[in-house]
Amino acid sequence: MKRSLIKEFRKIVGEKRCLWTPEDLYAYSHDCYARGNPELVLIVKSSEEVSSILRIANREGIPVTPRGAGTSLCGATTPIRGGIVLATNQMNRILEVSQEDRLAVVEPGVVTLRLHQAVESVGLFYPPDPASSAMSLIGGNVATNAGGPRCLKYGVTRDYLMALEVVLADGEILRTGSRAVKDVTGYDLTRLMCGSEGTLGVITRITVRLIPKPECKKTILTSFRTVEEASQMVSMIIGAGILPTTLEFMDHAYIRTVEDLMHLGLPVEAGAMLLIEVDGFREAVERQAKMIESFCRERGALGVQVGMTQEESDQLWAGRRMGTVALMRSAKLMISHDATVPASKIPDMVAHTHRIAREADLKVVIIGHAGDGNMHPIFLLDPSREGEMDRFRKASEELFLFTVRCGGTLSGEHGIGIEKNPFLHLQVDEVGVRTMKAIKAALDPKGILNPGKFV
Ligand code: LAC
Ligand code: ZN
Repeated sequence: MKRSLIKEFRKIVGEKRCLWTPEDLYAYSHDCYARGNPELVLIVKSSEEVSSILRIANREGIPVTPRGAGTSLCGATTPIRGGIVLATNQMNRILEVSQEDRLAVVEPGVVTLRLHQAVESVGLFYPPDPASSAMSLIGGNVATNAGGPRCLKYGVTRDYLMALEVVLADGEILRTGSRAVKDVTGYDLTRLMCGSEGTLGVITRITVRLIPKPECKKTILTSFRTVEEASQMVSMIIGAGILPTTLEFMDHAYIRTVEDLMHLGLPVEAGAMLLIEVDGFREAVERQAKMIESFCRERGALGVQVGMTQEESDQLWAGRRMGTVALMRSAKLMISHDATVPASKIPDMVAHTHRIAREADLKVVIIGHAGDGNMHPIFLLDPSREGEMDRFRKASEELFLFTVRCGGTLSGEHGIGIEKNPFLHLQVDEVGVRTMKAIKAALDPKGILNPGKFV
């Protein structure tokens, strides 16, 4: 990048927020999937700064990769074409929490957990809770339409968006939506931006819808001899008219591997474990928890533990929350897919994944947000093994084909990024791709925003 240009950018954000030393560039070069080589990192503090930066980048045709906390699992924030990493982590103000209108207005750099805490402290609730919520930023959640364990009952990030402020590729500032719960004025640009992975604009302000905080919750951890028994349990709960907040599934390989790494006392003899949570008014929660407990015993569960307090609940969650982090440390490379199938296909999906991995000689453990069919086959890879990455690619393709054939999707919550780019055609046909390209070309004709990603 020319020195004169760097000078121009430095004038916008000041010296301290314009980074170009090798160690600074390295720190902003990667997400949880891959690494790229940016030429410049600009840390922004306002939409006006973003606008000025994009005006120049657009004029000069410089790639710009927006970045939140870099927790993407699919390379959505990897600056693969170099250029600028535009970091929004310092735009981190909670501007408003309105109890009357049940909404919050925030900047994109707010850590999701901080938003949870802020609204819960006044009796409100922001349901989407990606597993990374302690570090991920709300802007990234919107850009990837993040999900998480609570989606079964409450839906995903998209379902709580009311309005956005987005800086477009040419520097113009677009304002979408309103503060009204119902809003059908024109195209739904808010939803178009949500999940666009930084390819259509840079999100600079977000208005989210809030709901009343559930009065109480109960957590139940139960284990079964086989995956089929656990799946039947899922159907039984849903069939009884209970809509749990979470219904998390963990397979035998996951339980075994996490127990070996963390010694939590998990039931290693179990074929599968379910972590179930119900929330709402106390009486309803108690009745639902009792029903679930008795279903578990009827179905011959190996064990049932119920957590009443937050502390007990946290303990039951430890194997799920800390487990994936332990797995990440245990493998040379961990790649977590998030292919999603209709709930009825979960047992098939688990069986298929195990067969595909066995035939490809790959190590896989499976967890998933079972209630909504969002499964996570987690591959524990060693790229130094002869042909391992080729075998992984083929196995992934086979797995995606299976999910698409049974009416599911390549990605339930992580996004496409660079990881699933080669597989997009398995789900999106020519007309779909053409439509996406037309939208991209209309909003970012020079293709400067997060180039090299799915469009
Ligand atoms: C989780 C991530 C992998 O649910 O989506 O833990
Ligand atoms: Zn997940």
